[in-house]
Amino acid sequence: MSENKTVWTKKDLLGLYELSQEEIELILDTASSFKEISTREIKKVPALRGKTVVNLFYEPSTRTRVSFEVAAKRLSADVINIATETSSVKKGETLIDTGTNIQALKADIIVVRHDCSGAPAMLARHLDISVVNAGDGWHEHPTQALLDIFTLKEKSGKIKGLNVVIVGDISHSRVARSNIWGLTKLGAKVTVCAPQILIPAEIEKTGAKVSNDIDEALKNADAVNVLRMQFERDENKAFPGGLEYFKQFGITKERLKKAKKDIIVMHPGPLNRGIEMESAVADGENSVILEQVTNGIAVRMAVLFLVAQGKEKP
Ligand code: CP
Repeated sequence: MSENKTVWTKKDLLGLYELSQEEIELILDTASSFKEISTREIKKVPALRGKTVVNLFYEPSTRTRVSFEVAAKRLSADVINIATETSSVKKGETLIDTGTNIQALKADIIVVRHDCSGAPAMLARHLDISVVNAGDGWHEHPTQALLDIFTLKEKSGKIKGLNVVIVGDISHSRVARSNIWGLTKLGAKVTVCAPQILIPAEIEKTGAKVSNDIDEALKNADAVNVLRMQFERDENKAFPGGLEYFKQFGITKERLKKAKKDIIVMHPGPLNRGIEMESAVADGENSVILEQVTNGIAVRMAVLFLVAQGKEKP
């Protein structure tokens, strides 16, 4: 287990905004010690034996949902997946009522994804059991940022002093927000890059720099985290079209010729090939996209393990 002396006290993981540098490092160190378990022939330890984890997803997910299920099973927890499409949510049951019923069924941890920012925090305040945010609206996706940071640290050996560019739909991105909080707390320099319409107001107050020129932003970058264009959120049809976006901001082999040779290319998925990134880059030598997915297991094991020990309510 990790040498980190920080004591985890929180019963929930709601975002990286409310975590200290030490708490983030504790999660990363704990994940590091858990990573090896997935390489064993019998990929299981008894750390959460007898505990029950419920995955409650109000939005679609592939990576996060499967990865939380795999993580919980690696720790020997029992796992129940609730698809809201076939649950009593369809009959109008509220999030709080669903949560209190899951608590009454003696679950220990609820992993929740919701389209409303703040939904996991509201649930956490109402429940005594742990709540883990698996992505809420445009607010935060803390475990995605933790696995991004874990992967960066594994590749670079450090986070402090790295120049990280986050390019894409920053406005609607919970991944961008969690990455900004996590990376800046650990001493990285973050630049967000997008057409101005996709840059949220006052984003500089987070400590991130802003650029509208990807070629300029890439010049000094150690890593580029490429976000999905969320065209489904473009109600006013104000975003640049896919081809136009690709021309101006898409990550291509040609564009990377002007960046550092060993620049780390990341994407949280799902990826729109040919819009935010060309396939030659996504599948190329600088890409760590599938390593991010693999690291999601260790990071989520660490989060489940730590929140199961915490008692402090938000
Ligand atoms: N990165 C991510 O959250 O992917 P899913 O939506 O598939 O979980």
